[in-house]
Amino acid sequence: MLADSYGRVATDLRVSLTDRCNLRCTYCMPAEGLDWLPKPELLTDDELLRLIRIGVTLLGIEEIRFTGGEPLLRKGLPGIVAATTALRPRPQTALTTNGIGLARMAPALAEAGLDRVNVSLDTLRPDVFEKLARRRRLDDVLEGMAGAAAAGLTPVKVNAVLMRGVNDVEAPELLRYCLDHGYELRFIEQMPLDAQHGWRRENMITADEILDRLGAAFTLEPADAAERGSAPAEIFHVDGGPAKVGVIGSVTRPFCGACDRVRLTADGQIRNCLFAREESDLRALLRSDASDAEIADRWRAAVAAKLPGHGINDPSFLQPARPMSAIGG
Ligand code: GTP
Ligand code: 5AD
Ligand code: SF4
Repeated sequence: MLADSYGRVATDLRVSLTDRCNLRCTYCMPAEGLDWLPKPELLTDDELLRLIRIGVTLLGIEEIRFTGGEPLLRKGLPGIVAATTALRPRPQTALTTNGIGLARMAPALAEAGLDRVNVSLDTLRPDVFEKLARRRRLDDVLEGMAGAAAAGLTPVKVNAVLMRGVNDVEAPELLRYCLDHGYELRFIEQMPLDAQHGWRRENMITADEILDRLGAAFTLEPADAAERGSAPAEIFHVDGGPAKVGVIGSVTRPFCGACDRVRLTADGQIRNCLFAREESDLRALLRSDASDAEIADRWRAAVAAKLPGHGINDPSFLQPARPMSAIGG
């Protein structure tokens, strides 16, 4: 079991498969990209799968989420998924992706046993997409979402980060689009995790603002709290129906007290929080003939040291050294 000193137990492992990305979202990275991790520093498939096996069979991990950067850029992704879903007890598996290339990959991923996907979609306007992601790829993303749904990678959840003066007016139309296509949309408060350290609290569209904007176009009814569990999204039923929308208020409505996550970076470091200031180096152990038990011990110690919350609202808050793209969302 991966327990911390505040009584939380990590059962959800988020695995970053690469820090690279084929978009350049302004809230994530600069136009020129970042200094990508050198290949020898990345875990090999065998190293990665050994850690996933230790997590599932020795440490009580029940769900694996593959993230990036952009995880579809990782060669051999279906093989990684297949090896993960072959473990017993079989973990739930999900992928968080920007959707580019997903239409082509979805059937192989479903075949490998992937359960579901979350796709980032911040705008439905090609020009806004280009301004925001610095690439003209909106159609690929929409095709990717449709391909995932057709392949049965459901529910398809959609993540939208709203930015003041960029895409914030689109909240109702994004929701309408997702309702029409059967996707579960979640609006996310922007967090201070961009490589350029450009986050400003006053530019963040808060959960309250998101709900106000949606409330002007739809009737929202809070769902039963039990429906949420440890998920970051607060769920609302839309217009009295079964249809839902989520709001992830990471900054103004933190959910750290119910957190059940632990993260593995593409270079083999355990992070006990998105905002952790320290990491635990499992790659060094993997490459020094350590036993599974020794690796599990270091992993347990990493989670045991988890702080109670992310501290974004503390005056002394410091952004972590790694940007979101190198942590995994
Ligand atoms: P499901 O609801 O189970 O599908 O997963 P999810 O919402 O956790 O996954 P996803 O990768 O789609 O993340 C959605 C948003 O939640 C992203 O903006 C993440 O950065 C944010 N998020 C995920 N995990 C954490 C976390 O541990 N802390 C905080 N503050 N935000 C998180
Ligand atoms: N704050 C909140 N969400 C972010 N994402 C990327 N950067 C940030 C940020 N600074 C979102 C992406 C993706 C998910 C993994 O995290 O849009 O959907
Ligand atoms: Fe890529 Fe995701 Fe960062 Fe956008 S937010 S640049 S899709 S890693």
